Amino acid sequence: MRGVGAATSRAEALAWLAENFENAGLDEPRREARLALCEAGGLTPAALIAAPEAALGEPAAARLVDLAARRAAGEPLSKIAGRREFWGLALAVSPDVLDPRPETETLVEAALKLLGSRRRDPLRILDLGVGSGAILCALLTECPAALGLGVDASAAAVSIARRNVEACGLAARADVRLGSWTEGVEGPFDLIVSNPPYIPSADVDGLERAVRDYDPRLALDGGPDGLDAYRAILPASVALLAPGGRLLVEVGAGQGGAVLGLAARLGFVHAETRRDLAGVERVVVGQRPA
Ligand SMILES: C[S@@+](CC[C@H](N)C(=O)[O-])C[C@H]1O[C@@H](n2cnc3c(N)ncnc32)[C@H](O)[C@@H]1O
Repeated sequence: MRGVGAATSRAEALAWLAENFENAGLDEPRREARLALCEAGGLTPAALIAAPEAALGEPAAARLVDLAARRAAGEPLSKIAGRREFWGLALAVSPDVLDPRPETETLVEAALKLLGSRRRDPLRILDLGVGSGAILCALLTECPAALGLGVDASAAAVSIARRNVEACGLAARADVRLGSWTEGVEGPFDLIVSNPPYIPSADVDGLERAVRDYDPRLALDGGPDGLDAYRAILPASVALLAPGGRLLVEVGAGQGGAVLGLAARLGFVHAETRRDLAGVERVVVGQRPA
């Protein structure tokens, strides 16, 4: 990509970016162009609007050229920037962790609603497949006396989650460990949460490029029918939950019924689904009988 330099104005750079992103087939080229320019120039959207004629300068121009090429090739802006916002928290992300998704906020919201005023109690929370630490950090931020444990099978994810826990000021209340699901984990927990890999193996290669090429396969591949992780997590959670404790798991579109059925067979009560903002059944909740 050529066409911008230090003397290029922000408005010209915006037009150049939008044209490149449109040619690359990105869904929202103008919006993406604004985000890219703000990222490369270290600008707020307000600063961009206030002074569109200002020159890019260096090193913003060089950064913009690199960023534009990577974004046009399909790399998500969050992975280029190394940052992603989740539940109002700015989290570090890398190619080793799933980009936390807005729909996962449905799980956080559902957990807080179920906890109600117990949110302030010294709860024990377990996050299985902690990834970047998104769910764990959000819940511990909202539950000021809670202690949390996050587990992930990826050593690189564990180190990102630890970094985020630290950056969110939660290190004194959170532990993050390398391991497979609940192996070696001792309860009891008041809340077990998980957003496990749930894409059927045969569908992973057909996912959009930004997901398939830039999120780790370990975070996506849920086995032949996408449900392998639930078969491991749900039975193990029965034993680790305190009486009356809650389990919340994110599910893929169309998986709610199967996971609800599994929860009911294992003796979970009040097993229900919660929908995300798009109306998709996104979370299955259940309770260990009191
Ligand atoms: C869909 S990602 C979710 C990450 C994060 N919780 C979030 O919501 O953004 C699933 C995570 O499960 C982890 N994982 C996969 N298999 C695992 C296993 N057997 N034990 C523990 N974690 C596992 C992956 O490494 C990945 O970080």
